[in-house]
Amino acid sequence: MKVKINNRLEKVASLVKENDYVLDVGCDHALLDIYLLQTKKRVRAIASDIKEGPLVHAKENIKKYQLQDKIKVKLGNGIDTIEEEVNTIIISGMGGKNIVGILKYKTNLMKKVDTLILSPNNDTEFVRKEICRLGFYIEEEILVLEKKFFYPILRFRRGKKHYRKEDYLFGPILRIRKDPSFHEYMKREKEVRQKLLQILPKNYMKKRWELKNEIKMIEKNL
Ligand SMILES: C[S@@+](CC[C@H](N)C(=O)[O-])C[C@H]1O[C@@H](n2cnc3c(N)ncnc32)[C@H](O)[C@@H]1O
Repeated sequence: MKVKINNRLEKVASLVKENDYVLDVGCDHALLDIYLLQTKKRVRAIASDIKEGPLVHAKENIKKYQLQDKIKVKLGNGIDTIEEEVNTIIISGMGGKNIVGILKYKTNLMKKVDTLILSPNNDTEFVRKEICRLGFYIEEEILVLEKKFFYPILRFRRGKKHYRKEDYLFGPILRIRKDPSFHEYMKREKEVRQKLLQILPKNYMKKRWELKNEIKMIEKNL
């Protein structure tokens, strides 16, 4: 029986490579890990969460799809649950600041990790910037529209690349590739900034300047 997952998680899974050993941080129901094991035969996975409750559901689901021998389930904070062979960390469906916090202070546990697949609910510019500071570059990006919200999904690899402000803001790959959804995404980003400009007092000069500058960047990248 094939597990059903939403479009966002399907796109996260599409960024996993065939031989990856994955640590899924904040696995919740572990549906992503079940889907991964069902669709990519050589992938191995650890489903991990900070709370007992989600792991009860995760274990039930894993049993339902008879993958108890293939997916390890571990209780723990962030990447404390990592194992030697893990090369890929997935963190999806969390706030950007939480994602960065989980990784930034535990780089000693990440020495053998070459890939990070991250899907922040917000603060994507911050995530791109901070993760690149940890010695990664952006190898792939997908923009997913799920229940009227846009979710960027980013795959980072070890290495260095030089990025500009607009790369961190809108994605170095997304803004060049310009998929159909990107246009709508940028339109919304522009509207958010225009609305902010309307309510922001005139004496917030620096913030107003930043917003105007970002609107210009959006127009340039449309
Ligand atoms: C909204 S769910 C996301 C589930 C799934 N990853 C997805 O993308 O749909 C967030 C999960 O992350 C877990 N979580 C939050 N902070 C965590 C941390 N520091 N370490 C591990 N898990 C965490 C929560 O318990 C929850 O199950």
